Amino acid sequence: MNDLPEYNPTRLAIFISGTGSNMEALLEACEEDDYPAKPVLVLANKASAGGLEKAKARGIQTVVVDHKVFGGDREAFEHAIQAELEKHDVEFIALAGFMRVLTPWFIGKWEGKMINIHPSLLPSFPGLHTHQRAIAAKCRLHGCSVHYVTAGVDEGPIIGQAAVPIFPDDTPDTLAARVLVAEHKLYPACLEAAVSDDQNSSYVQMSDDPDAPFIISAP
Ligand code: GRF
Repeated sequence: MNDLPEYNPTRLAIFISGTGSNMEALLEACEEDDYPAKPVLVLANKASAGGLEKAKARGIQTVVVDHKVFGGDREAFEHAIQAELEKHDVEFIALAGFMRVLTPWFIGKWEGKMINIHPSLLPSFPGLHTHQRAIAAKCRLHGCSVHYVTAGVDEGPIIGQAAVPIFPDDTPDTLAARVLVAEHKLYPACLEAAVSDDQNSSYVQMSDDPDAPFIISAP
């Protein structure tokens, strides 16, 4: 008799619009033994998204649902996305640099099953140009947040955050690069907590390295 618990990973779709470095971090994590999610689809809203080739190289199914084809009809675009998700029996969605605002219809359908990474310590700096805005505000700390997606843009419950220092000579680009390193650590940890419904795994990771992020997972 085999009394090992059944390994039944959550079927994950990752949505991208660009480079897909966060997508890669998630795909890498999913290759680890016992990681509770399994990527079954990478979806992009444009054929030029660089992440598509990276996903294909890892043997992951990809699909492009081009928002331009639908003109301004956002729900028609999302119905086309929903059809792809159903085709692949998707159970959970991770937005990773997906640059389309979603409608209440789609968000309602995936409530509690869709998360996003945002490059700031929310609720500070929702929206765009977060690195430039954190420098302009003379913040000493900046970072990234993973949160559930709700109707308010960048407003959903926070799953975890990672903070990095801002140095006096930082530019938006140097700061973005430092935050991105933190994003790649934070997102897999938060996806794991979200699909496991493990909201009690709070931990703090600190380091003597001033570039290293510290991560505080939400209780
Ligand atoms: C990341 O900074 C992410 O936080 C933001 O868009 C960027 C996407 O980068 N939402 P990548 O495509 O994952 O490299």
